[in-house]
Amino acid sequence: MFQQLERLNADSILGLMAKYRADPETLKVDLGVGVYRDLNGNTPIPDCVRRSEREVLAAQTTKSYVAAVGREEFNGAVQELVLGLAHAACRDRRAITVQTPGGCGALRLGAELIHAAAPSAAVHLSDPTWGNHSPLLGSTGIKLERYPYYDPRAHQLRFEAMMQQLTHAPAGDVVLLHACCHNPTGADLQPDQWEAVADLLQRRGLIPFLDLAYLGFASSLDEDAAPVRMIAQRLPEALIAISFSKNLGLYRERVGALIVIGENEARAAAALSHTLQIARGIYSMPPDHGAAIAARIFAAAALRRDWIQELESMRARIQQMRALLAQRLEDATGGGSFDFIRAQRGMFSLLGVSARAVDRLREKHHIYMTADSRMNLAGITPHNVDYVAAAFAAERAT
Ligand SMILES: Cc1ncc(COP(=O)(O)O)c(C=O)c1O
Repeated sequence: MFQQLERLNADSILGLMAKYRADPETLKVDLGVGVYRDLNGNTPIPDCVRRSEREVLAAQTTKSYVAAVGREEFNGAVQELVLGLAHAACRDRRAITVQTPGGCGALRLGAELIHAAAPSAAVHLSDPTWGNHSPLLGSTGIKLERYPYYDPRAHQLRFEAMMQQLTHAPAGDVVLLHACCHNPTGADLQPDQWEAVADLLQRRGLIPFLDLAYLGFASSLDEDAAPVRMIAQRLPEALIAISFSKNLGLYRERVGALIVIGENEARAAAALSHTLQIARGIYSMPPDHGAAIAARIFAAAALRRDWIQELESMRARIQQMRALLAQRLEDATGGGSFDFIRAQRGMFSLLGVSARAVDRLREKHHIYMTADSRMNLAGITPHNVDYVAAAFAAERAT
């Protein structure tokens, strides 16, 4: 059977991680993999997670199944976190929430639901977008389209081109939008642009699929959720994929959720029944441990307060490293402007250099980035920033 299979190349990000690990150079810098790092280059377990985990283990009396929907208290808290306490969609019981194995699980489950409900609908992805969007959504058989989003050379959004293109998308198609901290560009829509997108979706009968993988990494939990709440308020239907990998540091525990908003309570209940049936057919039940930890943090005032503080310090560190790298790049290039790095949000920005320059940065300087020149700003520290800035300045015209 397997004689037919050709060996595939490793996934580009996983392949890059392996190359980094194998590099014996002590000066090496990892700006590739998308995980948060502290000043020492570690991806820490937040203190609130450690405490919650101890409590979860102490209270646990069984490892029996939970349910395909996951933990009800987790789902309720996530819905409140994302949509707010008194959102009309919750009041009208038009929103359903399902716990998923990470944000990837939510994206895939959402895509399967779209495919089951409307097999001919296309999903429109931003150009550029996170490298895993195409395989995750496309492997359901859904047709994928691209809309212009960002010009990496000019370091600017292509908002007019985006609107122009989406105006021609057929009614019933789905538009995938990064709710905040766009991956890989760090360039988010401004509030008036979000309003214009909501107008367009409404006018054209398009359905939003919001990817919320960095809630709390741009400004605050409420501010980052604002575009999602506004869209969910104005549009009759929406899907929202949420990840707690980054903002709770629970990467390997696989904690996420899918919220589906239907036109009314009956449609939302029907969507829930299909979502659960699809989940049963793929992985049956989501893993419980991480969601149990998260649910406790959301519910206990002291743990939640500590989480918000830890989130704030992660956000502040990334912003400081953005400002520091921009400054050092301006110094090293003698006058180039790197304001875009200061202004963008979340862990990523595109340096905007060629794939050849990315190769040279890796081979000559041991600085690891994805081929599109995406840098993870959380990989920058006060110790490596001068080294990185000098190498970027030397290779950027390559
Ligand atoms: C844009 C985006 N969406 C979704 C995810 C999914 O995250 P996970 O499945 O690790 O929770 C990520 C993770 O890197 C991401 O960057």
